[in-house]
Amino acid sequence: MKYNFDEIIDRTNTNSMNVDGWRHYIFKDDPHREFPFADNEFIRMWVADMEFAVAPEIREAIKERVDRQILGYSAVTDPEYYEAVFEWCKTRYDLTFPKRHLVFSQGVVPALYQLVEDLVGAGEKVITFTPAYGYFLHACEYSGTGLLESPLASRSGRYEIDFDDLEKKAADPSARMLILCNPHNPTGTVWSREELERVAGIAARNGLWIISDEIHCDLLRTGLRHTPMANIMPDYDRLITCMSASKSFNLAGMMHSHIIIRNEEERARFRSRDKTGGALNPLSIAAHKAAYSRGAQWLDALRSYLDDNFRFTGEFLAENIPDAGFSVPDATYFAWVDFSKVLPDEKSLPLFFAERAGVLLEGGNELFVGNAEGCVRLNLAMPRAMLKTGLERMAGSVAH
Ligand SMILES: Cc1ncc(COP(=O)(O)O)c(C=O)c1O
Repeated sequence: MKYNFDEIIDRTNTNSMNVDGWRHYIFKDDPHREFPFADNEFIRMWVADMEFAVAPEIREAIKERVDRQILGYSAVTDPEYYEAVFEWCKTRYDLTFPKRHLVFSQGVVPALYQLVEDLVGAGEKVITFTPAYGYFLHACEYSGTGLLESPLASRSGRYEIDFDDLEKKAADPSARMLILCNPHNPTGTVWSREELERVAGIAARNGLWIISDEIHCDLLRTGLRHTPMANIMPDYDRLITCMSASKSFNLAGMMHSHIIIRNEEERARFRSRDKTGGALNPLSIAAHKAAYSRGAQWLDALRSYLDDNFRFTGEFLAENIPDAGFSVPDATYFAWVDFSKVLPDEKSLPLFFAERAGVLLEGGNELFVGNAEGCVRLNLAMPRAMLKTGLERMAGSVAH
């Protein structure tokens, strides 16, 4: 194997939010909260970054850029950057778009904040499917807009859209935008072409803006293929697609993303309201170009390792916590596990597993907006030995 996903990497003293930021994010900095585990004893299965080394091809490209010695204000002017992105999208997703539609942002989250602020007025609302990525709600809170939740329903472990509910929410006169997570965090659902077509039809009939957050689109189980919403709605002007190599290649700290905005007026507004004046991090540009031009082999090896981690987790849970509800999802590196039968009276599952198992995870409505009661999200993007320890400790904690 050319890449070693079993390597356990020391992340202490790297200013890592994963390592040092969990008290703040999960437990809201409660000063009275003490845990019976030292910080370095926790197995961290929470925030969406990986315990794997960045691909050597990308590390090399970053070093090469550093060796050019000057790191002044930067923007993407290199034609090869665009060629790498276009080639990636075409080959992997049969997705093409004009260069002028591509706008950069220091993250999908900052872009979401801006897009909601730009496009959703006072008294208007955003629709999203729940459970949901917490920042979909925070983007609405930031600009004071309301959120209409459309709960997904689990059918034999696959989370599916309630189209009657979506029809109702979309017809609400205050509804203005749908934030679609494609594929879906936290449940890992890959929407079928038919589901996307139905969503597209409902949104179009009601004139909604659609933000298709496709940040997890490279992380499908081996053999499955992502369908961009842009291919379902080739002519819909109110569609905005968000992509990045940040999740797929463990580059979240590089703060770089691609926002594909078709509508000319919004594109101009988005650019004009960019508080950085369009400046980007030169190392992030180098990293993204390397990911899209030289990262395919690493990504495929990663996907294969993740497939095995999911298989391992499925078998482990079936054997050791059989009442936990879990099916291997089609996408993401998250396992969405229903503990409502295992720990029906537990108020906070993140607290329970941190205190009893020394495992850091996210779960419940407080972190996933709604429709998440009794469920936790486990980040499985880690060496198998680490994953095994985490799962064993979780099983031990629920057995007592
Ligand atoms: C659906 C989704 N969108 C956006 C992000 C974060 O995007 P960024 O780091 O580019 O702001 C995440 C991170 O977990 C995510 O899951």
